[in-house]
Amino acid sequence: DRTAEKKKEAPKLALPDAQIVTEVTHWTDRLFSFRVTRPASLRFRSGEFVMIGLMGDPDPKTGKVKPLLRAYSIASPSWDEELEFYSIKVQDGPLTSRLQHIQPGDEIILRPKPVGTLVHDALLPGKRLWLFATGTGIAPFASLLRDPQTFEDYDEVILTHTCREVGELTYGAELIKTIQSDELLAELIGPENLAKLRYYPTTTREESPKMGRITDLMRSGEVFADLGVPALTPETDRAMVCGNLAFNLEIKELLEGYGLEEGANSDPKHYVVEKAFLD
Ligand code: A2P
Repeated sequence: DRTAEKKKEAPKLALPDAQIVTEVTHWTDRLFSFRVTRPASLRFRSGEFVMIGLMGDPDPKTGKVKPLLRAYSIASPSWDEELEFYSIKVQDGPLTSRLQHIQPGDEIILRPKPVGTLVHDALLPGKRLWLFATGTGIAPFASLLRDPQTFEDYDEVILTHTCREVGELTYGAELIKTIQSDELLAELIGPENLAKLRYYPTTTREESPKMGRITDLMRSGEVFADLGVPALTPETDRAMVCGNLAFNLEIKELLEGYGLEEGANSDPKHYVVEKAFLD
């Protein structure tokens, strides 16, 4: 009969809010990224996050299974037809111990309700935009850096990324390379806009051209000397911060020291902060 036929045609998705994994890339033994189908109705602002995950294990008492969800920044730009995520792999992490094994064709749960503060709407107009990331905190910036508005709104856009080891910089380094060399992106963003992009990667536990925590390099003035820009001021500079908790707190204090104030969607100011997800 016809209903049965129809059912056969459309693949039955096992999970609620299911999306299909289309691509998985393992960057290091601690980091991977993946792409999934995008719900047709999902609109988001570059820099926002959604809850994603898998079904959890059955509750030992009741046998019930509940979704195991975590907040993940969308790493892809809002014009992309798929969604990209960048994740840590924690061997005993409730979600990522399992999520790291996903393969193209697998299903994940994606709650289509994007939110977050790392958005242009939460910042007042300015001349120079600083994107400060550690580890997987680069994910929301991977979205913002592929959004033309990021370049249209500022004269200069500086991405700093601090990781323990050199291999952990690869995802970001590849992203920057793609932004600067991909014809489609270049056309979309505009060559004059691409010239505004500066990239400042640093490592803390393995030798690389620039070593040290970005916070220390700010305090010493080294990052400003390297880039040939003055220290941040509320008159010209805006900042978005995404990293581990200790980093977020430390850089917040630094930014406040420069006179910048924290903004929100409802109250745009000079900088915004969000915690990078750590399973
Ligand atoms: P460090 O190696 O000195 O701890 P993680 O992988 O633990 O999330 O760390 C990512 C990067 O963030 C590491 O390079 C780490 O440096 C750095 N980091 C950790 N805490 C701070 C902090 N309070 N301020 C600046 N950078 C930090």
